[in-house]
Amino acid sequence: MKILVIGSGGREHAIVWKLAQSPHCTSLWCAPGNAGTATERLAANHSPVINIPLGAENLPGLLAWAQTNRPELIVVGPDNPLALGIVDLFQSHHFKIWGPNRQAAQFESSKVFAQAFMARHGIPTAQAESFTDPVQAKIFTDSMGGRCAVKADGLALGKGVVVCASQAEARQAIDHMLVGHQFGEASARIVIQEFLEGIEVSLHALCDGTSALLFPTSQDHKRAFDGDLGPNTGGMGTYCPTPFLNEDQMAEVQRVILKPWLKGCIQEGIDYRGIIYPGIMLTAKGPKVLEFNARFGDPETQVYLARLENDLVELLDASATGQLAQHTLRWKAGAALCVVMASGGYPGHYAKGKTIQGLDKASKLEKTKVFHAGTTLKNDQILTHGGRVLGVTAWDSDLKAARKRAYEAVQTINFEGVMYRNDLAHRALHYPPPGENPRSGHN
Ligand code: AMP
Ligand code: GLY
Repeated sequence: MKILVIGSGGREHAIVWKLAQSPHCTSLWCAPGNAGTATERLAANHSPVINIPLGAENLPGLLAWAQTNRPELIVVGPDNPLALGIVDLFQSHHFKIWGPNRQAAQFESSKVFAQAFMARHGIPTAQAESFTDPVQAKIFTDSMGGRCAVKADGLALGKGVVVCASQAEARQAIDHMLVGHQFGEASARIVIQEFLEGIEVSLHALCDGTSALLFPTSQDHKRAFDGDLGPNTGGMGTYCPTPFLNEDQMAEVQRVILKPWLKGCIQEGIDYRGIIYPGIMLTAKGPKVLEFNARFGDPETQVYLARLENDLVELLDASATGQLAQHTLRWKAGAALCVVMASGGYPGHYAKGKTIQGLDKASKLEKTKVFHAGTTLKNDQILTHGGRVLGVTAWDSDLKAARKRAYEAVQTINFEGVMYRNDLAHRALHYPPPGENPRSGHN
């Protein structure tokens, strides 16, 4: 099968790496890809993966390319092309494309839509309201003493959520979005949620329109610095599984979140094919959905695909064609952990074009894979080219061992200004805290 992957981050490198292992995959392209995707070779015939210099949002360019090169499966990584309707466009030209269509992608592209859907189908979430009027919005946040999350309705490059601790902060966030049009059309409407306390966990489920296969839980580290301090980022590292939900609690997640979500989609004629990724908060009153994403998480994908034993071509093909019920997911025993190595200054201003050293040495390490994100190849040298540069991923028989392996690999790699977190999985390694029962509170 000839396959095109769309995107250029660590998530897409992980997808390319895993697809390349499949005996079904005979040609693999990545648009635009990165220096890492271009180093992969196919298990089936040793052909290299080819990067195509077309951006993920260049829909006309990608379509024209596909009409010439005829990929038999197209896999979409990022959220923006999904929100732009890439799936609908390619389907209308009779391509098989994996990912939710534009209507289904609204779970991520419109927080107002997602919140209203959860209300219609009784899915546990934060108490929330949508607003276009700043005066009404402020009355609502004042009623919560300012402790809330103010969220732009649309996609805002991951910057559309402001978690507020005071009335002044909430009022300022409302003014920026509704009055100052901070995110243009994307913040013409906002959702305000009550502030939820608890442990945050990522859920992923692979869907085919009528069924959904739930992955083990994972956890991202969104803050830039150790101790969960500093600004929010796209994600500084992940691990999988987490210890925060036992089997009964996963069954509860299935029953109260995934089942009503899928049933609601079917009832409303939403044909959801792809990954649904709810971010959830494990509160004292049970799991509650903070938001939905309509794609694989980044860097969650790196740890999931490091552990997934199934053939990814078969799974994505089944998801795109409504055949998932024939599959069950199989995972390597133990755990995986991914350390993001980022450019100094990220998520603010950072330099590009720094030479990355040590990749060869790291590539020889066992049970370790260095996924590239913001990298580029110039004169045979791999250079930094983005905020998140590498996702150093390792797997082993348990979390502690996987973590040790990942940090050992990190020590072999260097570039000027490198920054990464040293405390990944700190919650899991000290869970439950002394004197506390493992999350039995809400049952
Ligand atoms: P989102 O893009 O909606 O996931 O929000 C970004 C981050 O803000 C989340 O990962 C949470 O850490 C935090 N957040 C979002 N909503 C809430 C909420 N209602 N209460 C507390 N924290 C939140
Ligand atoms: N890991 C955060 C995200 O993919 O949105």
